[in-house]
Amino acid sequence: MNKSINLKQRPVGTPTLADFDIIELENNLNVSEGEILLESKYISVDPYLRGRMSDAKSYVPPFNVGEPISSGIVAEVIETKNDKFKKGDFVSGLLQWKEKQISTGEGLQKIDKSKASLSAYLGIVGMTGLTAFLGLHEIGKPKKGETLVVSGAAGAVGSVVGQIGKILGLNVIGIAGTDEKIDMLKSEFGFDYGINYKTTKDMKAAIKEAAPNGVDIYFDNVGGPISDAVLFNINQFARIIICGAISVYNKTELPMAIAVQPFLVKNSALMQGFIVSNYAEKFPVAMKQLSTWLGEGKLTYKETIVEGFDNTPQAFLDMMNGKNKGKMIVKV
Ligand SMILES: NC(=O)c1ccc[n+]([C@@H]2O[C@H](COP(=O)([O-])OP(=O)(O)OC[C@H]3O[C@@H](n4cnc5c(N)ncnc54)[C@H](OP(=O)(O)O)[C@@H]3O)[C@@H](O)[C@H]2O)c1
Repeated sequence: MNKSINLKQRPVGTPTLADFDIIELENNLNVSEGEILLESKYISVDPYLRGRMSDAKSYVPPFNVGEPISSGIVAEVIETKNDKFKKGDFVSGLLQWKEKQISTGEGLQKIDKSKASLSAYLGIVGMTGLTAFLGLHEIGKPKKGETLVVSGAAGAVGSVVGQIGKILGLNVIGIAGTDEKIDMLKSEFGFDYGINYKTTKDMKAAIKEAAPNGVDIYFDNVGGPISDAVLFNINQFARIIICGAISVYNKTELPMAIAVQPFLVKNSALMQGFIVSNYAEKFPVAMKQLSTWLGEGKLTYKETIVEGFDNTPQAFLDMMNGKNKGKMIVKV
């Protein structure tokens, strides 16, 4: 048997299970010359998929209604007529939400499960690890002793940004949505300070208390009022990495925000959008450093694993809702 998860309709506002269809497919996949048959093992659910469910222009095209959703997937080669792959190889890449599928192998990377766990290739040694490393280095330009604020700090990207900040000798403040996450930031990831944005009434004052000397780097995963509060605390020559804006992904209309220009002018600060795929030529160097730090025990990671292919849509909804600690992944 084979199954596929399709976009049933474009979500309006917050997505629900009704926006997805689980379709039973006939198990008649015939591998032609040059092709491989893949069995999905781990599926990544990511905030950017929300954007692809809408019919809006972005850096990746929207999903089509009635067709499978795709995301980062780790899969096993179970049949091959392609010399580059043998049976039992594991690959990672952008694939469809299907239990089994045929591929030419184009765009897929072979992965080595003796170097890292299979699921880690969707997180710490995959797209989210690269995002953390490259966003912080390329735009944040961190210098020892500086103060870094990270929003979405307990998630896949944020938890790695904060740890890299500590490795580089920064003072690191994380913002997240539960007390349990704040404890985790400090006890497991070595953050110096944590702020629960859901229970803090005055975020501007809380950031000032956490960063009495001001904020030099802000790694922004969320946008909205949290980011406004950080702006009030930036230092001269601050760097602001706009990595994501999850607080607005489900909004049907873009909210009015404070004007950022006075903060940027007054502080000669830099605010720059970041898309990890624009830095593809730097992936090998970044990956090598992430793997080295992992091997040395300087970097650690957390995963929230949901079991069962059919639970992929729910895992996506839960991640958008903050139910994950670290990387949200589905074990098929
Ligand atoms: N630009 C790129 O190349 C790139 C690549 C990867 C990811 N990203 C972006 O980076 C961000 C984090 O991605 P991720 O994969 O690491 O996801 P994640 O942080 O593991 O999961 C999403 C988290 O967002 C938080 N959240 C949800 N609604 C929120 C709100 N209204 N305000 C504040 N926080 C909210 C939740 O944590 P709480 O419990 O703390 O609310 C949730 O756990 C996203 O914005 C994503 O789009 C960008």
